[in-house]
Order: sequence, then structure tokens, then C-alpha cells
Amino acid sequence: MRILLLGSGGREHALAWKISQSPLCTRLYLAPGNAGTTLLGTHCPIAVTDFEAIASLCLKEQIDMVIVGPEEPLVNGIREFLTKQQGLESLKIIGPGKVGAQLEGSKAFAKSFMERHGIPTARYKEFSAANYEQGVAYLQAHPLPIVLKADGLAAGKGVLICETTQEALQGFEAMIREARFGEAGKKVVVEQFLKGIEISVFVLTDGTNYVLLPEAKDYKRIGVGDKGLNTGGMGAVSPVPFVDATLWSKIEQRVVIPTINGLQQDGIPYCGFVFIGFMIVKGEPFVIEYNCRMGDPETEVVIPRLASDLVALLDAAALGQLQKQRVEVDPRAACTVVAVSGGYPEDYKKGYPISGLDQPHESLVFHMGTTRHEGQVLTSGGRVLTVTSFASSVTEAAARSQQVQQTIQFNDKYCRTDIGYEFLK
Ligand code: AMP
Ligand code: GLY
Repeated sequence: MRILLLGSGGREHALAWKISQSPLCTRLYLAPGNAGTTLLGTHCPIAVTDFEAIASLCLKEQIDMVIVGPEEPLVNGIREFLTKQQGLESLKIIGPGKVGAQLEGSKAFAKSFMERHGIPTARYKEFSAANYEQGVAYLQAHPLPIVLKADGLAAGKGVLICETTQEALQGFEAMIREARFGEAGKKVVVEQFLKGIEISVFVLTDGTNYVLLPEAKDYKRIGVGDKGLNTGGMGAVSPVPFVDATLWSKIEQRVVIPTINGLQQDGIPYCGFVFIGFMIVKGEPFVIEYNCRMGDPETEVVIPRLASDLVALLDAAALGQLQKQRVEVDPRAACTVVAVSGGYPEDYKKGYPISGLDQPHESLVFHMGTTRHEGQVLTSGGRVLTVTSFASSVTEAAARSQQVQQTIQFNDKYCRTDIGYEFLK
């Protein structure tokens, strides 16, 4: 099979690493890829949002399967665009159509989907300019803290956790009246605050059948002890030690199965990943969010733990035959520790040379924001690279990733030193 993988982050490096090991993959293309994926496949300098160029590439290189890494092309309808091109009608695409991608693309869509299908989530109300005054009254009467979510994609920045009513009213005004998160963000979901522990669960579905991948926990804040600004993710562990068979069964019965059945009942075809973000409150699972793709950096622990052939799973998903597949998982613990450019998630510099990438060790280094220039690997993003290690415990896996991180250098490099801290012994 000739496969095209879209994206350029650590998620895509981990996917490319796994795909390139499959005997079912005869040729791998990456658009655009990064410095770490250079040896794994043919790179094409095409943006993930340039649908015309992606379609031409698929035709020219006789691509059999396109795997869409990030959410933006999915929300913008890449599936519909590609499948309506002459000659691409039977292209296999991993990633939902425009409507299915609304599970991530619209918080309001996701909330009404959950409500309609009885899926446990925080209580909520939806407001816009049309019922602005009612929204103000609702916020004034609501217990604190309170959560405001701008509708539409906001790269993880459209969520406000407000500790005071004044903060909530200001955020509400900024979202609806000042359109701080764009036109779509003028619709706001106001949600009950849930206190608990977050975990991420990954489902691969063909729209009818599904398989579950290992769960993970990511560390979103920039600072040690989960302090400071939210980021794309500073590290992750898998498995999550407190997730036992009882919790896993609640997750599957109350959320995963109703989600797949709900898509079917609503007539929404879906082939691809559903990433379900959970808040576990006193042992009970509540959905915080859906994403229509894999997580980053969760993929960098989940995919290395997958012992099964990923391409066989994706092919079965594309053919609607996932019922025939089983997922084998490496029982060892994995921990990934991300290195970022100083200043991230606010302003940071790019273009610093990275050294120490050739040191021998048993960990995996996945590039997130790197580029190759005149034979050198340079930083090109806020999150630069992540180191994944395996061990019999999270403690040991975390220690190994921290050790390997210390052998890699670039200017202003920063890592959280406490990834997996709740589980360290
Ligand atoms: P989201 O973009 O929906 O993933 O939200 C970003 C982050 O905000 C989540 O990862 C949670 O840490 C937090 N969050 C979102 N919704 C809630 C909620 N209802 N209660 C508590 N925290 C939340
Ligand atoms: N790590 C969270 C995400 O990929 O959205």
C-alpha cells in the first residue's frame, strides 16, 4: 500500500515510525513531515491545508491511503474534497468527514451530541449574541469556578476556567461581543466545572465497529506541579496506573459504545480516530472533549505501546472490517518528556541548532518542531522534540526519558522534570 501521512508534529513522527515498520506499507510519503521523519519516507513540501496540491500528489503518486494527522484539514472537509476528485473515489482516508469532525470543531455540536445520546458530561448551556442577557444572568447565578468554551477550533486556547464571576463576565463579553476567538467563537458553551483527574482514551472506528488503543495521561501545563499556562502538552504516560478494569468498563459501556452508536443513529459516517478527553470524578468518567484525531504527545506513548500492525488496523477501518481486528499492547509502561523552546507557550525563538541527536540509547526521539537546513537540525516550533522510554514502571520510564533529554541540547531548552509525578515511587 502507498500511504500519505499529513502533518509535521511529534504525533506524525510516531505514526510514521510505526507505519514504516509494517510489511503492508510499500511506500510512505509525508506532507510536510519534519527533520525527524526524513529517513522514514519521501517528503513533499505541501501544507496540510492545501487540498488541491494534496489531491494532485495522490493522483501522481498513486496513493492508496491518506492518514490525516491534525484536525484542521478534517474540520475543513479534506475527506469530501479528495473523494470527489476524479480518480480518487476509492482512496482510503483515515479521518472523518466534515460533519463527524464537528465533534472537535464545535463545542456546541459535541455537547448536544452527548446530551442526545446520554453520554456523561458536565452540565452546560449555550449562549450567543441572541441570548446574551440571559447568559449574563446565568453566569451571575452560577457557582464557581465556571468553565467558558468558545465554539470552533481555537488550538486549545478557547477554554477559560473562571474563578470569579467578574472574570467569567469579562470572558463572556470578549468571546461574544469582541469575537476574540473568531466568528465561530461568538457561540459559547458555559459548563459546570468538574474536579478530578484527566485521562485520554483513543478509539479507532469504521463507523460501526471499533477498537480501543491504550489510554494515556498528558501534562498540559508549562510548569512543574501542573502550574502556569496551558500548552499543547509537555509529556505523557501510558498506561495510567489508576485505570483498572472497572473504570475501563464504565468508559467503554457509558461512553465509547454510545458514541459509536450515536454517530450511526445520527447518520454520520466516521472512519478514523476518536480521541476522548475524560475527567474522572471519584471513579466516574465524564467527557470533557472529543477530538477527531490522535493526541500529541499522547500518540508518542500510545503508538509505541501498540504491538499490532497499525497499517492492518487502519486498512480494516477503511474497509469497514474492524470487527476482525484485535489490538495487542506492550504491557510495559511508556513515558514521554517534551523539550520546548524557552518562552513557549508565549513568544519563543526558532532556528537554534540541536545537538546530541546521535547519542546511542534505547529511547525513541520524536521530533515535533524541527527542520533540516544545510545538514543541521534546527528548532522550528515551540514544542521541539520528545523522548519516549519504556520500562517496567512509570518511574523507571520517566527517569530514562529525563536522562536522555539531558544529552540533547539547544539554546533556551526547557523540559518539565516531573512528568508522571503522581505515579512516581
Ligand atoms: P478542552 O479544550 O475542552 O480540552 O479544555 C481544555 C482544558 O480545560 C481541559 O484539558 C481541562 O483541563 C479543562 N477543562 C475543560 N472543561 C472542563 C470542565 N468542565 N471542568 C474542569 N476542567 C475543564
Ligand atoms: N494533548 C492534547 C491534544 O492533542 O489535544
